[in-house]
Amino acid sequence: MIDVKKKLMKQLSDVMPEFEIAIKADIAQKIIALKEQKNAVILGHNYMEPALYLSIPDFTGDSLELCRKAANTDKDIIVFCGVRFMAETAKILNPEKKVLIPSPKAGCSLAESITAADVRELRTQYPGVPIVTYINTYADVKAECDVCCTSGNAAKVVASFGNQPVIFLPDEYLAANVARETGRKIIFPTKIPRAATGQNPGLDYQMIGWQGRCEVHEQFTVEDIDNVRSQFPDVVILAHPECSPEVVDASDFSGSTAEMLAYVRDANAPRYLLLTECSMGDNIAAENPNLEMLRLCSIRCPHMSEITLEDTLRALELEQYEVDVPEHIRKRALASVERMLTIR
Ligand code: 13P
Ligand code: SF4
Repeated sequence: MIDVKKKLMKQLSDVMPEFEIAIKADIAQKIIALKEQKNAVILGHNYMEPALYLSIPDFTGDSLELCRKAANTDKDIIVFCGVRFMAETAKILNPEKKVLIPSPKAGCSLAESITAADVRELRTQYPGVPIVTYINTYADVKAECDVCCTSGNAAKVVASFGNQPVIFLPDEYLAANVARETGRKIIFPTKIPRAATGQNPGLDYQMIGWQGRCEVHEQFTVEDIDNVRSQFPDVVILAHPECSPEVVDASDFSGSTAEMLAYVRDANAPRYLLLTECSMGDNIAAENPNLEMLRLCSIRCPHMSEITLEDTLRALELEQYEVDVPEHIRKRALASVERMLTIR
């Protein structure tokens, strides 16, 4: 068994007091032993806090990578150190396995922004138009859509429909960024409801969006970027595509959390700023002590930070909190997820 304390001391001793590392390492060691005893796999999203991210997951990654890992596991239990829609996706792919999320409070503002009834209403309003849903939605919404996407493959999924118009839900900014990348004109019919204007939006569009937002990424501004650049002219700025198109435009690179990680590993810049959940910067700094990472840590995802080492240990001990998806919803949601996984 790996010596977690030694590993964490090596990677975190510049950013965390040793006594705290020792406490976290002790919990992580117990989790690893229990995970083996119970034949469980732990999937950890890139936003997990450093002590967790660096110790217990069998796999770390962005939503797409973790979805692929969930699709291929042969373990009996999947512990998802991420938010609920991610754990639900693992359950959609593995109905016979026990899927656990360490905190029942780990939601997502995007997943909350749309309901299955909203999607049905859009289908009635735009009959025959295929519906792409961001993976940051709950199973009942996925069940009403045609295909899922993540920030890592959104443009590819939209492009797979050729010249056909598509509905893209629910992230307004991701939709606008994808529309720009794929050269499509986008409309947001909820901005000016048809009933209020009495007008049909006509046919001059190739994408129809929704007005959900990530409560974290919507907070980054072009002014933040200007401020950072004026203090650190050599900084390379990476923005998650859930940021506004203006912020993405003012940045040097935009991509999923895994794409940002890969970019930083391969580039050779003196310093970086990631416009995304702050712990990503901590994790990169811990793995690459030679890199200078700037962080805007007043902006955090309250849902991801619900997942702690302590709760993960309890989750494995008590086999809580089990994620379930009713079979009639799961089957239809699976079609959307599987269709996404065939698009490379
Ligand atoms: P990624 O798929 O890029 O990891 O994004 C997930 C997410 O929730 C971003 O806020
Ligand atoms: Fe949801 Fe935003 Fe948190 Fe990601 S960062 S889980 S999109 S609220």
